[in-house]
Amino acid sequence: MERHEADMRRALELAERGWGRVSPNPLVGALVRSLDGDVVGEGWHEGPGTPHAEAMALAVAGTEARGATVVCTLEPCNRFGRTPPCTTALIEAGVARVIVGATDPGLGEGTPGIAELRGAGIDVVTDVLGAGCRALNEAFERHVLTGRPFVVLKSASSLDGKTAAADGTSRWITSDEARADVQRLRAWSDAVVVGSGTVVADDPSLTVRDHRYADTRPPRRVIVDSTGRVSATARVFDGSAPTLVATTDRTSHGRVSAWEETGAEVVIIDRDEAGRVSIPGLLDALGKRDVQGLLVEGGAHLAGSFVDGDLVDRFVFYLAPKVIGGERAPGMVAGAGWMPVDAGLGLVFERIERIGPDLKVVARVHRHR
Ligand SMILES: NC(=O)c1ccc[n+]([C@@H]2O[C@H](COP(=O)([O-])OP(=O)(O)OC[C@H]3O[C@@H](n4cnc5c(N)ncnc54)[C@H](OP(=O)(O)O)[C@@H]3O)[C@@H](O)[C@H]2O)c1
Repeated sequence: MERHEADMRRALELAERGWGRVSPNPLVGALVRSLDGDVVGEGWHEGPGTPHAEAMALAVAGTEARGATVVCTLEPCNRFGRTPPCTTALIEAGVARVIVGATDPGLGEGTPGIAELRGAGIDVVTDVLGAGCRALNEAFERHVLTGRPFVVLKSASSLDGKTAAADGTSRWITSDEARADVQRLRAWSDAVVVGSGTVVADDPSLTVRDHRYADTRPPRRVIVDSTGRVSATARVFDGSAPTLVATTDRTSHGRVSAWEETGAEVVIIDRDEAGRVSIPGLLDALGKRDVQGLLVEGGAHLAGSFVDGDLVDRFVFYLAPKVIGGERAPGMVAGAGWMPVDAGLGLVFERIERIGPDLKVVARVHRHR
């Protein structure tokens, strides 16, 4: 078992090589250990249309795959997509054993990939470093199971939770290092969403500019604007990355056309009870467009709607060593809020780290249901 776990750790490292490029596919890594005990093939998935990790590792191993053990972070697929099924490749290569990290909910009911391998007489060991392997593809899994993205809400504030001073100034509360770290969050996501208030106030570009992520696919920029407040001359319409405007039937045809003329996609979403863009409706629309990982970048009103609807999966707070105070200075999350106090969203801290002079606090929503 120790050998299997060590091999799975290596397979996880291999899977990471596809980071930021594989969506809407999962990250997968695999290796082949021959009958003699040598690693004779390694593989990982590079993105849609390219070989699966198992196929790449088997191709490197060649005839040495006969009787070998193959270690995969994810259950091998058993159906034709853009590439042939990995189960067939494993069976035809004559491997003796397959070690699987996580099962693949995308393959349908049960675990058909594992069942097919066992049916062909291959010994299959499951759940080796299962938690780590599942965590690698949490957004993929969420999307497969619910049709909606996994939602990460990011906020940058002073230690007392203020995102701007009472006079409206907000640049910059956190450090250059914290803002550089946000670039990684953006590169992870399939889409980055902000409210119309943030576009009007800050005119952000919402792109990934850090050269370390130059080879990742650019996240879609999503603007939530119920009535057409945002001008088509805003930076998010500069054509440097795909842009989608989520609006309602309250926006004029003229504004919709102006947005569309910039190349942006405009989607009319149902209104919520306040007449604004329905956030569950937005999540459905983004899920249909294969958005698996969604980053909510603010501001407080949009964050409030996500929190009120219990629609956030993970919070990432960047906290500056500053206290701003002031009743009129905005906090991180507006909206109606949860009442009484013990009804508030329960979180589990996942990570707390220093980023330059700031703190980064990562917390996962703990759901009982
Ligand atoms: N520190 C940070 O991390 C951070 C991040 C982002 C922004 N900010 C700051 O936050 C400020 C802007 O925040 P904000 O709260 O005023 O604006 P916001 O949350 O960016 O946008 C709110 C607006 O979005 C529209 N909207 C449409 N559907 C909505 C829905 N379901 N729920 C909520 N809003 C919906 C509404 O306008 P319509 O009804 O007109 O559509 C609403 O007024 C700026 O000063 C910016 O600098 C800080």
